[in-house]
Amino acid sequence: MKAILLVGGQGTRLRPLTLSKPKPLLPLANRPFLDHVLFLLNLHGISDVVLAVGYRSESFEPQYGDGSHLGVRLHYVREDKPLDTGWAIKNVESFLAGNETFLVFNGDILTDLDLTDMLRQHREHGAVCTISLTSVDDPSAYGVVDMDEEGRVQRFTEKPKREEATSNWINAGTYLLEPEVLQYISEPQLLDEIPPGRPYSVEYGLFPKLLEEGLPIYGYRTGAYWLDIGSPAKYLQAQTDLMSGRLKYNLPPEGEELWQGVWAGEGTFIDSGARVTGPAVLGRNCKVRANAALTGPLALGDNCEVGEHARLDGIIAWDKAYFGEKADCRQSIFGNNAQIGEGSHIDGVSVIGDDATIGANNRLSGEKVDIGESLPDSEAEG
Ligand code: GDD
Ligand code: MG
Repeated sequence: MKAILLVGGQGTRLRPLTLSKPKPLLPLANRPFLDHVLFLLNLHGISDVVLAVGYRSESFEPQYGDGSHLGVRLHYVREDKPLDTGWAIKNVESFLAGNETFLVFNGDILTDLDLTDMLRQHREHGAVCTISLTSVDDPSAYGVVDMDEEGRVQRFTEKPKREEATSNWINAGTYLLEPEVLQYISEPQLLDEIPPGRPYSVEYGLFPKLLEEGLPIYGYRTGAYWLDIGSPAKYLQAQTDLMSGRLKYNLPPEGEELWQGVWAGEGTFIDSGARVTGPAVLGRNCKVRANAALTGPLALGDNCEVGEHARLDGIIAWDKAYFGEKADCRQSIFGNNAQIGEGSHIDGVSVIGDDATIGANNRLSGEKVDIGESLPDSEAEG
C-alpha cells in the first residue's frame, strides 16, 4: 500500500516557529516530527510514501532525500500554490498504483494508530473510504463525524460551532481510500487565497460529496494515542507524551543513554554538579554548567548551553539555544539561537522565536517573541 502525507500547510497557529521550519519538520524529542510518522508507516509495512509539499517545500528533500535511512521510499510532489487537502491528493494520482487502496495522512498527527487493523476493517466493510476517528471533549476545532450503529458515516461537518456538534467522534486525519473516489474531487478555482467551504478540500468537498453519492464511508473508532500538534500547547504536549512513553511505539532517541532516561549526543558535557532528570534528550556539543537543574520530559537541540543554577523544566529547545545563569524556563519552546538572559523566568507555553534575545530578569508567561526580536534587561527583583 502507498501513502500520501499532506505536509503542505502553513502551520499558522505555530508561528513564529513555522516561519523557519514547516510544521512537519519541527523537532520532537530532537527528531523532526515526520520521523515519528514515517516510523509508524514503516511498522505497518508501508514503504512507498509521497510527500505532498507546498509551504517551504524546499526544506524537505535536503533533510530526507530518498528516505532510505528511515526504511521508506520517498517521493516529493510540490505545489506552487496551496491546492488544499483534496486537490493535493488528486495532484499525486499518477504516483498511485492502478486500483490499489491507498492511505492519506495529515502530516501533523502524532499517533500509534493500528493501520493494519484499520485496513482489515476497511476491507471487511467494502468501504470506498475509511476515516480514523478519535473522541474529544470539544470537537469544534475538527471534522465531526456522525455514524449509524454499524459505523457507517451519515454526516461529516468540518469545524462546526460547539453547540452544533452532534458527535464527539472527530476525523483523526488518517484515511484509507479507494482510487475511484478521486473522480469526485473538484478542481480548484484560480484563486490566490483559499476561501472557506472549498469544494476541493477533503473535508468540505470530497467527504460530503461521497455521502451525497451514497458511497460507503466508514469510521474507524479507536482509543489509540492521538494528537494534532497544530498549536504551541499541543506541540509541547506531544513531546511530553512521546517522551513519557504514552505511545505504544517509540523511535529510539539519537545519541547515547548516559543514565536512566537521559540521552546525549557526541561532545555534550554535563557538569558533575548539574542535575538532569529524565526523560531528557540533549543533542551534540551541549554544555550544562554546575548546579543547573534539568527536569524532563525535555529536549535540547545541538550546541545548546545552560548556565549555572539555571532551571529547565519540560521545554523544547532547538539548536544553539542559550540559557543564562539562574534562568528559569518551564513548559515553553525556544527556537534556534534563542538567547535567554540571566535570571529570566519564562513559562506558560511561551514561544521564543529563532535568534530572539531576552535580556536579564524578564518575566514572560504564555507570550510569543518574534524571530530576531530583542527584549532589554529588566531590573532584578530586590
Ligand atoms: N499538500 C498540502 N496542500 N497539504 C495541506 C494543504 C495544502 O494546500 N493544506 C493543508 N495541508 C496539510 C497540513 O500540512 C496538515 O498536515 C493537514 O493538511 C491538515 O491541515 P491542518 O491545517 O492541520 O487542518 P486542521 O488540523 O485544522 O484540520 C484537519 O485535521 C483535523 C485533525 O487534526 C481536518 O482534516 C479535520 O477534519 C481533522 O479533524
Ligand atoms: Mg492539523
